[in-house]
Amino acid sequence: MAADSGPQPAAAPISLADYERLAAESLDAGTHAYVFGGAGDEVTLRDNLASWQRFAIRPRVLVGAGQLHRGTTVLGRPRPHPLIVAPMAFQRLVHRDADIATARAAAATNTIMCLPTFSTTTPAALVEALPGAPRWFQLYVFADRGVSRELIGLACELGYEALVVTVDLPVTGVRDRELRHPVPSPRPETAAGPRTAGGFIAPADLGGLIDPDLSWSDIERFAADASIPVVAKGILTPEDARLAVEHGARGVVVSNHGGRQLDTVLAAADALAPIVDAVGDQVDVLVDGGIRRGTDVLKALALGARAVMIGRPVLWGLAVDGTAGARRVLEILLGELDTALALAGAPNAAQLDRSFVTTAPWVAERR
Ligand code: GLV
Repeated sequence: MAADSGPQPAAAPISLADYERLAAESLDAGTHAYVFGGAGDEVTLRDNLASWQRFAIRPRVLVGAGQLHRGTTVLGRPRPHPLIVAPMAFQRLVHRDADIATARAAAATNTIMCLPTFSTTTPAALVEALPGAPRWFQLYVFADRGVSRELIGLACELGYEALVVTVDLPVTGVRDRELRHPVPSPRPETAAGPRTAGGFIAPADLGGLIDPDLSWSDIERFAADASIPVVAKGILTPEDARLAVEHGARGVVVSNHGGRQLDTVLAAADALAPIVDAVGDQVDVLVDGGIRRGTDVLKALALGARAVMIGRPVLWGLAVDGTAGARRVLEILLGELDTALALAGAPNAAQLDRSFVTTAPWVAERR
């Protein structure tokens, strides 16, 4: 065959990394900074990725991989798989159809969609567009508590199945990339939008709306008032996980906010097992941060997570190809999870436990 066979068609993305590259090429500098950036020197941002690779899989063989079951139970409800779309603000920055497009991708793959407080779609519009789809609602607690009360009431009324209260953003982290490249201000259609001048919120001003004095007693009040389970998102220590349980949370998300808040905190994978040991027998422990492969999902489940939240990769898919891209990202991850379950000798994801993972020898050698 001739060496120069002319221009080749662009290869279709086959991995989350492909979507990352394509999204990076397509976004303006400000949006790129917002989506890709982390706090400070981005040590935690990078370490989230590296942390899953510090675990090696201990695979078992000849256990029968003909029938795969990736089901799990989250907040008492059976789910066909452990993926949840993480709440991500200002999705309209990357695609005009924003949260609705993401929600369609989630619904097509039977994935729970967690609608962010700073969505560009109202909680009601999402329900109208996808009435039967599984949905959670993320709550940022505003200094104006009236707004938060309204949002909680709305989420319960509209059939959202859980209230995910973000607890790790009393103030916004120092995000160098966003300081260098100002992020465009989308016009959110959320309940929060009309409370701000002209309905516009610059992502940089988000911290100013949120109550820095949110406390455990607030979590207790939300848990008592809401007719749906409260999940505390942004927990990194067993101490806080125990407090969350004591104050009525039915679940915790082990998360460092995608490395966007306090740089050099623990990576998600490292924080997970001690928290599972502390509260895993009382509430559901979820995790997010740096999950890019089916093997990462498998490790999270083996360490004791009930489910995992997927953030940036869904935005990459959305940026590249709207609903189709976000859907493909979720499908790739599910396909990889199936392969990982089969090859690790855990055809039923419920069988996964700590015996399937160990500290990777390459980590021990480095110490
Ligand atoms: C919002 O949650 C952000 O991390 O920008």
